[in-house]
Amino acid sequence: MTGHHNFHSESRGYLSAMGKQWLLPLYDPFARFMGISRAHEKLLVRANLQPGQRVLEIGCGTGELLRTLKQRFPEVDALGIDPDLSALRRARRKATRGGLQIQYERAFADDLPLPDDNVDRVLSSFMLHHVPVAEWVPVLREVRRVLRPGGELHVVDLGGSLSGPNGGHPHRSSQAGESLPEQVLAALVDAGLSGARVDGYGRARLGRYVFYSAGAEAGGQSD
Ligand SMILES: C[S@@+](CC[C@H](N)C(=O)[O-])C[C@H]1O[C@@H](n2cnc3c(N)ncnc32)[C@H](O)[C@@H]1O
Repeated sequence: MTGHHNFHSESRGYLSAMGKQWLLPLYDPFARFMGISRAHEKLLVRANLQPGQRVLEIGCGTGELLRTLKQRFPEVDALGIDPDLSALRRARRKATRGGLQIQYERAFADDLPLPDDNVDRVLSSFMLHHVPVAEWVPVLREVRRVLRPGGELHVVDLGGSLSGPNGGHPHRSSQAGESLPEQVLAALVDAGLSGARVDGYGRARLGRYVFYSAGAEAGGQSD
């Protein structure tokens, strides 16, 4: 989950799921071992999905979250985007093998190949800490653009609890491979999403993780 930015034939870099491309085949077993599957289940409960909804996952990687989603909610229309073509190849292969209809497209989260007001839910799972903090607001603005009025964003990412008198982690920084809840909440608000909040915490082998949610208000396209 850590590593350097990878530069492939595409000119724009990004931090891939395992940090190094050759480690990608290990991602699914690693993720299961680290407790990511359980976090996926919890995120799906929070997402409050209804049949007929259209759901986008940004930074879908090898497609484990959408695979679980589609198994639980076959009547949801699922789309995943990621800049990593080899992760997408794996995701597509798994969907085909499982007989699951999931659409996967190569894209960066701050430049989504979707029209305005297009999806009911956006999900983001252990993706934010792979994106430079300076890109969070552009990514979240893009999320707001594609969300239909009344739509919701549900995020889970590595991180500690909100700093309090005793609970703070003064040495935490997002460069350490985690996102700070205060920073995530501020970015959600800056991007013009409404009702941004921490939606619970979890703990896995991987470390502590935090759930966030926010919404897109009707007529909220103005900046
Ligand atoms: C740790 S993986 C998480 C994969 C999946 N969401 C999961 O829960 O298993 C992080 C993913 O974010 C993707 N990513 C990195 N930068 C991105 C960006 N700017 N836009 C969209 N996805 C990005 C990586 O390619 C990688 O697949």
